[in-house]
Amino acid sequence: MRLFYAIFPPRDVQQKLAEAQRLLRGNWKPVREDQIHLTLGFLGDVSEAELARVRAAGREAARASGPFIARVRGTGFFPGEGRPRVWFARAEGDGFEPLALALRRTLPEFLEDERAFKAHLTLARRKGPAPRPGPVVFDLEFPVEAFALVASRLTPKGPQYAVLDTFSLKERGERGKQRTAKGLAKHPQAD
Ligand code: 2AM
Repeated sequence: MRLFYAIFPPRDVQQKLAEAQRLLRGNWKPVREDQIHLTLGFLGDVSEAELARVRAAGREAARASGPFIARVRGTGFFPGEGRPRVWFARAEGDGFEPLALALRRTLPEFLEDERAFKAHLTLARRKGPAPRPGPVVFDLEFPVEAFALVASRLTPKGPQYAVLDTFSLKERGERGKQRTAKGLAKHPQAD
């Protein structure tokens, strides 16, 4: 299973972020609106045997954290302006880094090699020659009250996401609730 921990903003925020995708020209592949998320940690392939530990790590990180407010203002590119592969909206909020660090501390063998954590929501991925979209200024805020453990299945039509667990930040000590997202894979979208 290809897994990652992520925060999904509310639908209205996803919608406003997706509106900016209208600026895209050429070989940019926009992220499907309902799949727009912020990755706290990308685990890669996880076996069934390791899944319990990964779920427990999510619960532990959630227990040690509280809810916070996320703000989204500007956009940027990975790895940089020069030859961008990813166009993203930058996210700010007191809680992102502590959560990402807590997960890394608990699961160092999964998360240690990852690129430095930068809180962002990917809006589009460049698949070939394409002009850079101009900067966009958002004025968005949303409460972060939970994060998810997500399974991603890569298909020719794009990734299909299934939420395996949701970890609440509101009640410290609460167990992760098992939940499977339905209808997340109706439209094509490449990763
Ligand atoms: P990105 O949005 O910046 O591309 C699911 O693939 C999520 O995990 C994406 O949001 C992606 O971040 C993130 N991710 C982090 N490291 C990754 C990796 N090595 N391969 C694929 N996705 C990765």
